[in-house]
Amino acid sequence: MIARMAASEPVPQFPHDFLWGVSTSAHQIEGAVDARLPSVWDAFTAEPGRVKDGSTAAVACDHYHRYGEDVALIAGLGVGAYRFSVSWPRVMSPGGLDFYDRLVDALCAAGVQPVPTLFHWDTPLSVEEAGGWLKRDTASLFADHAAEVADRIGDRVQKWITLNEPAEHTLLGHALGQHAPGRQLLFDALPVAHHQLLAHGLAVRALRAAGATDIGIANSHGPTWPASDDPADREAADFYDVLLNRLFADPLLLGAYPEGIGDLMPGDVDADLKVIAEPVDWYGINFYQPTKVGAPLTSGEATEFSGLTLPPELPFSPREIEGYPVTDFGWPVVPEALTELLLAFRDRYDDRLPPLVITENGCSYEGVDDQERIAYLDGHLRALHRALEAGVDVRGYFVWSLMDNFEWAEGYARRFGLVHVDYTTLERTPKASYHWLRDVLRAQRA
Ligand code: NOJ
Repeated sequence: MIARMAASEPVPQFPHDFLWGVSTSAHQIEGAVDARLPSVWDAFTAEPGRVKDGSTAAVACDHYHRYGEDVALIAGLGVGAYRFSVSWPRVMSPGGLDFYDRLVDALCAAGVQPVPTLFHWDTPLSVEEAGGWLKRDTASLFADHAAEVADRIGDRVQKWITLNEPAEHTLLGHALGQHAPGRQLLFDALPVAHHQLLAHGLAVRALRAAGATDIGIANSHGPTWPASDDPADREAADFYDVLLNRLFADPLLLGAYPEGIGDLMPGDVDADLKVIAEPVDWYGINFYQPTKVGAPLTSGEATEFSGLTLPPELPFSPREIEGYPVTDFGWPVVPEALTELLLAFRDRYDDRLPPLVITENGCSYEGVDDQERIAYLDGHLRALHRALEAGVDVRGYFVWSLMDNFEWAEGYARRFGLVHVDYTTLERTPKASYHWLRDVLRAQRA
């Protein structure tokens, strides 16, 4: 049904200054590991069994050497912006910033606005070995990293993103151990969330001191649907909603943790919250899917969900969402959940909500004739437009991802790209969705 809509009705017109873009991250595409210091992901992928297909990102898309070709693909798509991440361990390596200097120059020459993210999960191994995100000092080290990058490329960068998805980095990397650095601390991982938020606030200050004026953060959010009206399911869903959504958005936008959470955080939390709530110029949302959540299952066994293994100790359990198509990853395709999420954000944060940008949205499907991806993107653009019509101030939309890449613990098995990458020859082939989006953007400009 969604596919039929895609073919028949043009995507509605967005405001003329709406920012269109595509996203990637350093570890997922760059390769060239020898030209930088190691990160937690290099160490993690070297451990057998961590990545499902046994792969590593040592070469990935070899973007480090092929960035010229990739910039041409970005420009050919007709987007105004490219969101990439700056690898912290590369910045720490001699000559490492030269790469981002070249990339930013190439983007500017092609008329594409560079939108760097300063941290997308690839903590330098040396920082991890000194305690990583469990340690408060990492927040200050990150602010220094932000200042160093701004000093080098800030003359050509307008829009900055501090962190990518601190929720996933806390949950998958430190609570469940299914991403690097592989810690399984469950709720003892909460300081990792606090230190990332603090790092964000300190980085906002460092970037502003370096002259930046357009700073945001990319958080993953999605509506949480209770499995039923049963109070136990509602309570479990509320709890999950706090962990995924409010644990990050509340301190950033309201300057306060959800009830009961602040007491679990380390340090002088009230003083830190003042730094964390340093106003951002815009707020980025990565949206993929809603989650249905119920009370823990009584079997006492671990559950498999969306490629994750969830231990029985968690006070909630995600449930399958039925009645919608699913992607190759098994994620339900529910475009209206994006409208729901944006309206809920507007209602909850009201006049404290800065302009929003969708910093990621996309899906994994095999094949170059990817009609399902077209249907997914088409459905989500319509859903986004409905939120705009309802008065939500959204200023931009970035597709995840420009090209197929290293999908973390899933290895290369999940393909999120508008451009297909042959991992043997590294040849790039624009998919049907690339041509579709190019045509949508042409019509937007007409
Ligand atoms: C969010 C993450 O930021 C990105 O790294 C990942 O590849 C996509 N989601 C898809 O899972």
